[in-house]
Amino acid sequence: MVPIEKSFVNNMFSVEGKVAMVTGATGALGKVLAKAYGYAGAKVMMTGRSEGKLKDLEAEFKAEGIDCAYFVADPAKEDDVQALVKATVDKYGEVNILAVCHGYNKPKPILEQSVEEWQYIMDADCKSVYIVLKYVAQQMVAQGKGGKIVVVTSQRSKRGMAGYTGYCTSKGGADLMVSSMACELSAQHHINVNSLCPTVFRSELTEWMFDPESAVYQNFLKREPIGRLAEPADFAGYALFLSSDASNYITGANCDCSGGYLTC
Ligand SMILES: NC(=O)c1ccc[n+]([C@@H]2O[C@H](COP(=O)([O-])OP(=O)(O)OC[C@H]3O[C@@H](n4cnc5c(N)ncnc54)[C@H](OP(=O)(O)O)[C@@H]3O)[C@@H](O)[C@H]2O)c1
Repeated sequence: MVPIEKSFVNNMFSVEGKVAMVTGATGALGKVLAKAYGYAGAKVMMTGRSEGKLKDLEAEFKAEGIDCAYFVADPAKEDDVQALVKATVDKYGEVNILAVCHGYNKPKPILEQSVEEWQYIMDADCKSVYIVLKYVAQQMVAQGKGGKIVVVTSQRSKRGMAGYTGYCTSKGGADLMVSSMACELSAQHHINVNSLCPTVFRSELTEWMFDPESAVYQNFLKREPIGRLAEPADFAGYALFLSSDASNYITGANCDCSGGYLTC
């Protein structure tokens, strides 16, 4: 039997000194996770398509003593992602952690949605995940030191919803992508690949759902044993756990972080 080591227990949640790349860093969850990695002592490479927002984030984080940089890239574009990986390696020497936080949805019934509109969602939420995972995994394999990949999907990856044929399909695809990549990468290359599946959390797009008096909010509470909707900060602990040695035996998992949504 392999004994438990005190030094392992004392350091198992640490990401100090690691290089963490965060996609969709300009979004509600991406910003919070990027900051959480930074507070935990990681070097943070933030990416997204909006240069102005990335610049502001860099200034905000640096003012708090976080070692960070940004690179503008569209995660659905292969050339952009290859350049992003190169820029990260040029700046920090390697990539140890990847948190995929970008995403897009524009709900529309299938009878009204054009194929192009559906494809745009699929590219934003599924193809882009494939491209980012492929090139970051290649880099991690070349480094030969393993790695941690966390992809934010959704509880909608497991259940359908009217108007969501693009979103549910792409998030379901991303969840299976994570599991398939774990089968390829974990044993041989010590890269853990997992997804985080939240329900609604507060963002610019969902803020309107957070009025406690509204029927929408009250309806959600009936399915949320935890008694409230989530804030982006609620997922920082899970993301850090999945990015640290504490989760070394977890891979290919689609991790529930829904406040108990699945239980009732
Ligand atoms: N908010 C929720 O209630 C909720 C619930 C479950 C799951 N999720 C998922 O959790 C992740 C983070 O959500 P969030 O609420 O933090 O998102 P958000 O605030 O809307 O930000 C997501 C980021 O994704 C990037 N993005 C937007 N459209 C894109 C496109 N077409 N292609 C590539 N990138 C695009 C944007 O950055 P740039 O413009 O800089 O590229 C944006 O800042 C997403 O995958 C989302 O689907 C959200």
